[in-house]
Amino acid sequence: MADPGNPNLEVPAFFEAETERLRLRTAYLSDAKAYAPMLTSPEVMKWTSAGVPITDIDVAEQWIKARVLGRDTFKLSVELKGSLDNSGHPEIIGMMGSDHWPEIGYIFHPGHFNKGYATEALRALVPAAFERMPSAENGGYDFLQGGTVKGNAASGRVLEKAGFTECETTLQDFENSFFGRCDSVWYRIARPGKTLEELGVLPGTSSAKDGLLFARSASDKSKARAQRAEAEA
Ligand SMILES: CC(C)(COP(=O)(O)OP(=O)(O)OC[C@H]1O[C@@H](n2cnc3c(N)ncnc32)[C@H](O)[C@@H]1OP(=O)(O)O)[C@@H](O)C(=O)NCCC(=O)NCCS
Repeated sequence: MADPGNPNLEVPAFFEAETERLRLRTAYLSDAKAYAPMLTSPEVMKWTSAGVPITDIDVAEQWIKARVLGRDTFKLSVELKGSLDNSGHPEIIGMMGSDHWPEIGYIFHPGHFNKGYATEALRALVPAAFERMPSAENGGYDFLQGGTVKGNAASGRVLEKAGFTECETTLQDFENSFFGRCDSVWYRIARPGKTLEELGVLPGTSSAKDGLLFARSASDKSKARAQRAEAEA
């Protein structure tokens, strides 16, 4: 099924998984309102490419649309089991997944920080993402990576707790309106049966620098989205 506003971008195949406290399921455009506690939070948004809170619902819808549509997109809304929002729907406390492989990203509801939810969700996401992402021999990747703004200790901690290894720091390759230009720290995890070393994505290995692995800037990300739309056309 294609999005009526952009026939080139498909709604991805439905996915859901449960953990002890959470349900992860494919994110929908209609989740936009439920994302408000995250998108309107300066504390959350400063770490994202937006840099500033998103308060306008139309802009929020555009923001979500750019992330959830596309055949290969794997963006999930994270619901807190047993909790309802004001409209009686399961409360969404996070968004997590990939809009361009091999990168994964996430934001969580600031009212629920430090309860282990992001770690719990990421531990469930990793095996599912390896299943969804084509392997290197099929034109994809044999590792996942998370890029954090240098200094985002909470995010780095989540990645490490979920089994990722800090691999390298790239200089001045991220820019948003909160931090200006800054460095990124990259964490990676290999597909089961592979190692980061044999994949050549540890520090100092040549493929880690080939430029294809990184899509930190807003322009790189929109390029990746445009390529996706083109590929699906
Ligand atoms: C990063 C984020 C997803 C973490 O969500 P969460 O549900 O609070 O994460 P968890 O509870 O699973 O784990 C957080 C860990 O970070 C640690 N932490 C939190 N703030 C920290 C800080 N300022 N310095 C060091 N560690 C910190 C916590 O103590 C915890 O580690 P522990 O279990 O060893 O004690 C959430 O803070 C967030 O949405 N931040 C804004 C958006 C963002 O940064 N996204 C990632 C972009 S790369």
